Amino acid sequence: MTDRGIILWFTGLSGAGKSTLAEQLAPVLSARGRNVEVLDGDEVRTNLSKGLGFSKEDRDTNIRRIGYVARLLSRNGVAVITAAISPYAAIRDEVRASIADEPCEFIEIHVDCSIEELTRRDVKGLYEKALRGEIENFTGISDPYEAPEHPEVRVNSETQNEDESLGDIVGYLESRDLIRGDAS
Ligand code: ADX
Repeated sequence: MTDRGIILWFTGLSGAGKSTLAEQLAPVLSARGRNVEVLDGDEVRTNLSKGLGFSKEDRDTNIRRIGYVARLLSRNGVAVITAAISPYAAIRDEVRASIADEPCEFIEIHVDCSIEELTRRDVKGLYEKALRGEIENFTGISDPYEAPEHPEVRVNSETQNEDESLGDIVGYLESRDLIRGDAS
């Protein structure tokens, strides 16, 4: 197994399941001998990116900051899991390019889910508000989301349960020899 750092970059709409999968993935990687850090979008916005809003400029700043911290950690062999919407393909690609010369891998994981299903779930009640026009620049409703065209892994939280999505991600990492096989 390689000890190269890994950035596992989740991207997807609000409520698609990025944070849930990130939290479930972290202990799996730890159990396979990886040092792990999770940079969750909501958490980052309460400290590292406190004060930033949801304009394109602020989102780009947020994503560049997450990318910067992820790079510092991953170059020391850490498996870094990020879970922010990261709606703009160009900034995700910028982060990917920024680690091209580092001894680490950038793995983009798209958590796909239709707007219809997200509106139905509406865990935080934000879609209903956004559809009523009460939230400006809401991703997927009144702001763009640029899905990755060729992510390393694409999971779908509408058609798969969490275990299936997690299995796809872990399977991919095993196939790339980025984590040890399950000894249990
Ligand atoms: S990102 O675009 O900069 O990557 P980030 O993942 O940090 O977004 O934050 C998204 C979270 O902020 C959402 O899950 C939601 O809870 C909240 N939020 C508040 N306003 C918006 C908005 N206008 N668009 C998207 N998410 C919003």
